[in-house]
Amino acid sequence: MGSCIKGMYFLCALLALSSMDHVVGVANGRPWADEKVVKLQGSEDLVTDLPGQPDVGFRHYAGYVTVNEKNGRALFYWFYEASAHTDEKPLVLWLNGGPGCSSVGYGATQEIGPFIVNTNGSGLNFNPHSWNREANMLFLESPVGVGFSYSNTTRDYNNLGDDFTANDAYSFLHKWFLKFPSYRDRSFYIAGESYAGKYVPVLAELIYDKNKDPSLFINMKGFMLGNPETSESEDWRGMVDYAWSHAVVSDETHKIIRENCDFDSNDTWSNDDCNKAVDEVLKQYKEIDIYSLYTSVCIKNSTGSDGKSWEVMFKRTSKMMPRIMGGYDPCLDEYATAFYNRPDVQKALHVSDGHHLKHWSICNNKIFREWSYSKPSVLPIYKKLIAAGLRIWVYSGDTDGRVSVLSTRYSLSALGLPIIKAWRPWYHQKQVGGWFQEYEGLTFATFRGAGHAVPIFKPSESLSFFASFLVGESPPFER
Ligand SMILES: *[C@@H]1O[C@H](CO)[C@@H](O)[C@H](O)[C@H]1NC(C)=O
Ligand SMILES: *[C@@H]1O[C@H](CO)[C@@H](O)[C@H](O)[C@H]1NC(C)=O
Ligand SMILES: *[C@@H]1O[C@H](CO)[C@@H](O)[C@H](O)[C@H]1NC(C)=O
Ligand SMILES: *[C@@H]1O[C@H](CO)[C@@H](O)[C@H](O)[C@H]1NC(C)=O
Repeated sequence: MGSCIKGMYFLCALLALSSMDHVVGVANGRPWADEKVVKLQGSEDLVTDLPGQPDVGFRHYAGYVTVNEKNGRALFYWFYEASAHTDEKPLVLWLNGGPGCSSVGYGATQEIGPFIVNTNGSGLNFNPHSWNREANMLFLESPVGVGFSYSNTTRDYNNLGDDFTANDAYSFLHKWFLKFPSYRDRSFYIAGESYAGKYVPVLAELIYDKNKDPSLFINMKGFMLGNPETSESEDWRGMVDYAWSHAVVSDETHKIIRENCDFDSNDTWSNDDCNKAVDEVLKQYKEIDIYSLYTSVCIKNSTGSDGKSWEVMFKRTSKMMPRIMGGYDPCLDEYATAFYNRPDVQKALHVSDGHHLKHWSICNNKIFREWSYSKPSVLPIYKKLIAAGLRIWVYSGDTDGRVSVLSTRYSLSALGLPIIKAWRPWYHQKQVGGWFQEYEGLTFATFRGAGHAVPIFKPSESLSFFASFLVGESPPFER
């Protein structure tokens, strides 16, 4: 079994599994001391020499999965095995939003992955609060055009929308399971934040529908979302109310909005007074960090084209609700950009040969601007999947102005679910982590003092909350 033939991963994996007993394990990131195990599932994607990587006792894999042969579409993933008891831990897919932003640049290397890009882009720091302590974590750059993911057919980029994204992510999962067959029947969850508030329910619904065919079954148990875009009308109402109640805009501005903006209409922006008042909200938010009201903005010393990139990315069209990019700290973003454009890093991650480099950016603004279809609301999907018995948890960093805690409360309240555990604090290390409320079929929680990308602000709290989600038990509610 010197080499495994492409397309025969399953057999290779069986061979590998049958010799599991002999495996010594992983030491300092060097896997498989036993020579007998020549090939393991996914081995061609095993990352062995990532520059600046701290030594760890688990394996991780990165590379491409072709999701459409005809058009040449390939999605890039990075997968970290759980740091202990890999075989017993569930599989969790993490998605960041935008649309157009990278789950590798945000989720994996700024928020919840084991390796966080350090502040000069020269290497990686170990994250003791990495979510791969609780689960096998799969980060996907989606859709094509995001991060390293690409299409060889340019016109694909004109069709990107929620459904397109879900379909490719769905194909990705099945192809990925061929590479990693031991995860085929594993308990599976999806998690994400911001615009992934749309991606995740749409993908979960697709999986649920396709699961009716036993040959396509994926053992999906639920999903968890942080500061998620959910329903445009509720999200907008929450955003302007939050800006007012957090002293970002005046009573007068808020009053104009209340009297002139009909966020339930498909014609909200034809009202000039509404437009002007909402512009005032956005103008004030440009002065601070909309994603984290009480922290400093990054004042960049650069004259480059994106020298003002901390400004709120904003798009308004006549058809659609204006959208604002869901990202976080552009200062951090620069370090990630420096790291992922290094030849040695791209080679180690199986992205390029180290000579013909791929350009990587944390968010693709063109995708954001040209997004062709966005579901106005995923609440109908929530209803369907709650009825199907999926575990659904939603959390909200309460200092985020972008998808504010009010937006999420308005959205969830529109579901009209019966309350089974009334509003109360949850605790972390004897302090109030936030508040939570349990509904029939859904758990909602806040993170006190956290911005848009919650785990950046509250790494330890987030990890413990994630653990509660996975076991399906309320977060600790006694001090
Ligand atoms: C895209 O095109 C390049 C260059 O021809 C090729 O090497 C690559 O395999 C193609 N990708 C896919 C997913 O077909
Ligand atoms: C980056 O930071 C690390 C420590 O955090 C340091 O060892 C290294 O020299 C720095 N590299 C550069 C190019 O400044
Ligand atoms: C807007 O909503 C009205 C009814 O509320 C409907 O007749 C109209 O077709 C909608 N327009 C668009 C562009 O969706
Ligand atoms: C910007 O950086 C340059 C070189 O690093 C430095 O000389 C200059 O003083 C900086 N400007 C500001 C406004 O910080």
